[in-house]
Amino acid sequence: MRKNIVAGNWKMNNSHSEAVQLVGSIVNSIYDDAVQLIVIPPSIYASEIAKITSLSQIEVGVQNSSQYESGAYTGELSSSMIKSIGVQYVLVGHSERREYFDEQNVTLALKVNQLLNDGLTPIYCCGEILEEREKKNHFNIIKNQLEEGLFHLNDNQIQSCIIAYEPVWAIGTGVTASSNQAQEIHHFIRGLLVDKYGVAIAESISILYGGSCKPSNATELFANPDVDGGLIGGASLSAEDFIAIANSFS
Ligand code: 13P
Repeated sequence: MRKNIVAGNWKMNNSHSEAVQLVGSIVNSIYDDAVQLIVIPPSIYASEIAKITSLSQIEVGVQNSSQYESGAYTGELSSSMIKSIGVQYVLVGHSERREYFDEQNVTLALKVNQLLNDGLTPIYCCGEILEEREKKNHFNIIKNQLEEGLFHLNDNQIQSCIIAYEPVWAIGTGVTASSNQAQEIHHFIRGLLVDKYGVAIAESISILYGGSCKPSNATELFANPDVDGGLIGGASLSAEDFIAIANSFS
């Protein structure tokens, strides 16, 4: 059966000492050990964070990786470098990367390939902007993001991926998708997986919700049959809130 997962995307926040303190507080908290916790700090801290979490069940991710294997790509981080510091998870195609760094599905597919070649786990992000939802085009947008960035994978490869649905209008805005809206899209994504890979594989893949998820709404969101946890932004910068969210599965 698929895992329940709560991942904290710290984005471009925290000094070195704040990052170390935050992960220390998370490691020392009491949390539901049936839930996989992942912290996703800025890459510059990832090596040290991975050492701090190494004796716990908490896993570490980074927020981006290169589509290239190695070489003259100034400023980039390869999947093999990420693997070499003990990091297992990598966000791919977060909406902020799509919006501010012009990342396209075709590039994201290459990033996914590099990660899988190195045995890492992509957390592939998808989600519509407000205008697309208002035009009722959001199902098409999400389908396209998945088909172009992820559905080139074979049956084995797709099972090494996590999907995160993050409606862009809900990110950092305080506006959360309602529980029904989240379930509707997660069910839709699961259906796309069924069509492409069959029921058994579709049922094995975790689909996370992201967008203003916090302790006050996590229980309701996670109670949905197709919502397997959360990708948390702002609330993951507080150990207390992050742990409260992790303890929100019923
Ligand atoms: P917020 O939880 O701050 O809305 O961010 C969600 C997100 O983008 C996580 O990747």
